[in-house]
Amino acid sequence: MKPLILVTGGTGYIGSHTAVELIQDGFEVVIIDNLSNSRIEVLDGIEAITGVRPYYENFNLCDFKRLRQFCEKYHRLEAIIHFAALKAVGESVEKPLDYYHNNFESLINLLQIMGEYSLPNLVFSSSCTVYGQPDNLPVTEDSPIKKASSPYGNTKQVSEEIIQDAIVANNTIKAISLRYFNPIGAHPSAHIGELPLGIPLNLVPYLTQTVIGKRPELRVFGNDYETPDGTGIRDYIYVVDLARAHVIAIKRLLEGKNLKSYEVFNLGTGKGCSVLEIINAFEKATGEKVNYKFYPRRPGDIAAVYADTTLANRELGWKADTSLEQTLFTAWNWEKAIRHK
Ligand code: UD1
Repeated sequence: MKPLILVTGGTGYIGSHTAVELIQDGFEVVIIDNLSNSRIEVLDGIEAITGVRPYYENFNLCDFKRLRQFCEKYHRLEAIIHFAALKAVGESVEKPLDYYHNNFESLINLLQIMGEYSLPNLVFSSSCTVYGQPDNLPVTEDSPIKKASSPYGNTKQVSEEIIQDAIVANNTIKAISLRYFNPIGAHPSAHIGELPLGIPLNLVPYLTQTVIGKRPELRVFGNDYETPDGTGIRDYIYVVDLARAHVIAIKRLLEGKNLKSYEVFNLGTGKGCSVLEIINAFEKATGEKVNYKFYPRRPGDIAAVYADTTLANRELGWKADTSLEQTLFTAWNWEKAIRHK
């Protein structure tokens, strides 16, 4: 029988790509998602790619009773990947209590249920946001965790602490936190991708929506940073490469290859790339022209952050190897595909 993996937030952007990679690697997947920031049609996309429709349950992880019923039904779960969380930085500043309530309660419920049902394995979806503006680049996992710049960032920092405390109290639990840099792109099939509801906040969906004509221009936030071309630098990682790392993390836990009961890995490419470099790479990959204009810096943005991925390369045997142009090509194909959805 195939090992059954719970993917919370599995109809979301990274969750759906991870569900596909898990299924293609011989796992069975059950998704919990309340569709607060995703659509049910994502399940059709996963099925179109893999030929398998994952099991699906629609409820909020803050509902502990419902989570218990879920565990009774899916009693042969072997591991959990926890993506489900609120994740908009700006919104978290306006509604901090919603963020603390949702992101903490869902994680706490999962950890509690892991104890109750003897479910030992957790992969947690964390973020490079935990580092804030780092003093040294590239950022290693040992870089100091600075005060979070938003309630969202704070939920990621504290969630990692909650997991570590839970492990101290219950030494059967093992967890891996994966700190993502900037995930971009879509599945090469264009059956799944990023589906921003409303106006996109992130660079690449805003860019592709501009090129397709949904937005008049791409606003480049800041050209006066202390970077070679003055625009902000990030570590953009292909979402399918990122998804593959989750499958490796799950296998590591299931096979007991993890060296400690709690591990943390940066997931990025190790290369910083400016906003102008993204625009140029997109134009080269697609032959399309990007209409952009410089605007003042966006409040809360930092000049530059990119990952040191030595640890993930060495310990997980994983590397993000898809080129930026290939990645942006998939993002464009996806934008063209959703025009018809
Ligand atoms: C943001 C979040 C981060 C979160 C990540 C998820 C902040 C401060 N950080 O990262 O916590 O984990 O999204 O994907 O919000 N840019 C433009 N024009 C745009 C949009 C962005 O020039 O319309 C620039 C930004 O100034 C930045 C770069 O593009 O230099 C990347 O921005 P974005 O895609 O929003 O990601 P982050 O801000 O790095």
